[in-house]
Amino acid sequence: MEKKPESMISSRTDLSHELLLQKADQSVSTAAAAVDQTYRLHYHFMPQAYWMNDPNGLVFFDGYYHVFYQHHPYSPDWGPMHWGHARTKDFLLWEHLPIALAPSEDYDRDGCFSGSAVVDQGALYLFYTGHRVVQGRAIQVQCRAASLDGLTFVKDPLNPLIRQHPPEGSCDFRDPKVWKHGGTWFMALGSGKDGIGRVLLYRSSDLSHWEYVGVFAESDGTQGTIWECPDVFRLGEKHVLVVSPIGREPRRVLYFVGDVDYRSGTFVADYSRELDHGSDFYAAQSFFGTDRRILLAWMDAWDVDIPSKKDNWAGALTLPRELLLGRDGSLRFRPLPELRGLRKDHCFTTNMALDGAEHRFSAFDLQEAGLEIHWQLDLENTTAAQFGILFLDARSFAQFSVGFRRRGEELYVDAGRLGVFSAEVSPTGETRDLRIFVDRSSVEVFADGGAVSITARVYPSSHKLFPTLFAADGQLRTVRMDRWSLAK
Ligand code: FRU
Repeated sequence: MEKKPESMISSRTDLSHELLLQKADQSVSTAAAAVDQTYRLHYHFMPQAYWMNDPNGLVFFDGYYHVFYQHHPYSPDWGPMHWGHARTKDFLLWEHLPIALAPSEDYDRDGCFSGSAVVDQGALYLFYTGHRVVQGRAIQVQCRAASLDGLTFVKDPLNPLIRQHPPEGSCDFRDPKVWKHGGTWFMALGSGKDGIGRVLLYRSSDLSHWEYVGVFAESDGTQGTIWECPDVFRLGEKHVLVVSPIGREPRRVLYFVGDVDYRSGTFVADYSRELDHGSDFYAAQSFFGTDRRILLAWMDAWDVDIPSKKDNWAGALTLPRELLLGRDGSLRFRPLPELRGLRKDHCFTTNMALDGAEHRFSAFDLQEAGLEIHWQLDLENTTAAQFGILFLDARSFAQFSVGFRRRGEELYVDAGRLGVFSAEVSPTGETRDLRIFVDRSSVEVFADGGAVSITARVYPSSHKLFPTLFAADGQLRTVRMDRWSLAK
């Protein structure tokens, strides 16, 4: 029998879940009081304390953008996953809310894994993967929780709603993304089989009973062995599929632009690309926030050293980015205009020429604020083989840098011992636009109108930094460079 949202929510007071949530919140607030500030970010979302990874359940509900996230509320390392919860009206000020989901049932006893949210008839539903390990093997099932106030969530007594992966999948069967099309609900699930990453599709008329449709999309053999965190959405006249692949080097989120064929239940891709070219951009998820498609990703990565763990926290989200389709059909990122609300102390320089030497701008202090740079390059008159901005400490040591190699055809971020990340850029027009956002322990770069981005964590050992322009083997011409400090 179909359950109405009201009865699902009011027929249960889930005492054990509630107690587990209270215990988790208590643990986080105690740790938050003592978190070391060294690498804390000024204007990116991060947990109050302890571990976070993927953004989950992004949804606009009751006048707020809600963000849930994979959270371990007992240590700065990954552990049994809870869903942390926060909301914002402007992506600048975040309100931390009580943890929404804790592992409390047999089917999710080792973790409430990633998923998404939808609003239906006034109720907010979270879809997530219940994870447990039985005799060394993962069992992953799909579950739902509901809320009327957007603050407290009750797990569905019908859980798990999907108990078994189909033959085309494997025990890696997770991260439900739910959306509605023409009166029918659809759910995309990440999976993989025999070394081929896959997205599996389900459909439902009531959000409770799910019918398997088939393989929605799969790797061509070079795009990963398991696809995590699928996201599917319409953008303009096209559809976009985003997946986070395991088993592909480098490990970068991929996007496919194409069309959904709802009759066959498949995604027909025109082409695929890396969504961001940095090391610290994973498990991206988007949502439709009133009139635009906004995307956030986990601004960290698996299997890397995260120095802030010693300060009792780890993980953050990228800047919120609006997604647009370029005229050539490729995706463009635009950091949300709301971020301009953080700008202070505007300085600018026009018509600068640099030949071999360096030009050092005044210092900024990362403890006080972040930094935004908007750099318009005169490509036509730039001949340097390599050029960019070094972020120098007082001893003239580059803590990290952003620049171009191969006469402007390759954009890079040098994050020091954490690596160098680069991307091809196409010389379109005579001016090149670069936007750089530096926070206490991160750098995000957007080039060519947002067609290329590189996101990386950086952990400078000095907080007073001098942005310094350099050019090697030729001349660098700048049309204009604007700089702002960014602080709340
Ligand atoms: C992606 C991921 C998801 C999973 C979650 C567990 O980073 O591995 O596939 O649901 O993290 O925390």
